[in-house]
Amino acid sequence: MWDYNDKVKEHFLNPRNIGELPDANAIGHTGSLRCGDAMTLYMKVETIDSEERITDASFQTFGCASAIATASMLTEMIKGKTLAEAETLTNQDIVDALGGLPAPKIHCSVMGAEALEAAIANYRGEEPPGHDDEDRIICACFEVSEKTIRDAVWESNLTTVEQVTNHTKAGGACGQCKPDIARIIGEVLEEKAQALCDIEPESERDRKIGRLIAEVIAPQLTGHGGGLQLVAIDGDRVVVRLKGACQMCSNNQGTINDFVQQKLRDEIDEKITVEVGG
Ligand code: FES
Repeated sequence: MWDYNDKVKEHFLNPRNIGELPDANAIGHTGSLRCGDAMTLYMKVETIDSEERITDASFQTFGCASAIATASMLTEMIKGKTLAEAETLTNQDIVDALGGLPAPKIHCSVMGAEALEAAIANYRGEEPPGHDDEDRIICACFEVSEKTIRDAVWESNLTTVEQVTNHTKAGGACGQCKPDIARIIGEVLEEKAQALCDIEPESERDRKIGRLIAEVIAPQLTGHGGGLQLVAIDGDRVVVRLKGACQMCSNNQGTINDFVQQKLRDEIDEKITVEVGG
């Protein structure tokens, strides 16, 4: 039995907006019955004061308590929002609104976010996201594609196979796909390190610095609305550029000294100094 909080239990026992919406003009399906979870999100979108606004929403789902609670919360969150506002919602926003979900149930919130994306695409007459003939299925048990795993690793800063299973279900049954998942994680983290780095690493030590920034330091700052990019490495001197909220923060020098520099010293070399530039 999972340890659900009171809010999740309440949305599971008294789900809001359940059932088909007869006048829906945006419908998004995600998951599949064969894989044990499926969700359909119905939305009514109306143009009000030249803005496309979600005036009603409902859902049908086949799944566990957290899938029902997620869908219920999602419909409450999107009702009254413009499509542009709804597009910015992430699975983490749903998790936060529910006050958290057990780690192995995070994939339910991902399913909610995917249903929302699919409904918005349906309203616009577009293909649902993830529909790509070139995309290949990595996890046959849960029909999870390479692109879904890559996106989850990149966007949610995942670094382990277990985290990928929690987010996408891939790897959660026979486990034959786990080596492929591990390979994809490695590739994405390498790409991420490059994307966060203005330089070509010249040594294994530089590469380690890039990866630590990409996998550990930058995600923590991104989680608080900020960010960091590696600009240069000159011996023990590491130059970074602050991004987002970190640029405006009055205490950003404290973040550089006490978090970024300290982390690099603890994990790689105590002689490293970090400065902002570029
Ligand atoms: S193929 Fe992924 S769990 Fe079986």
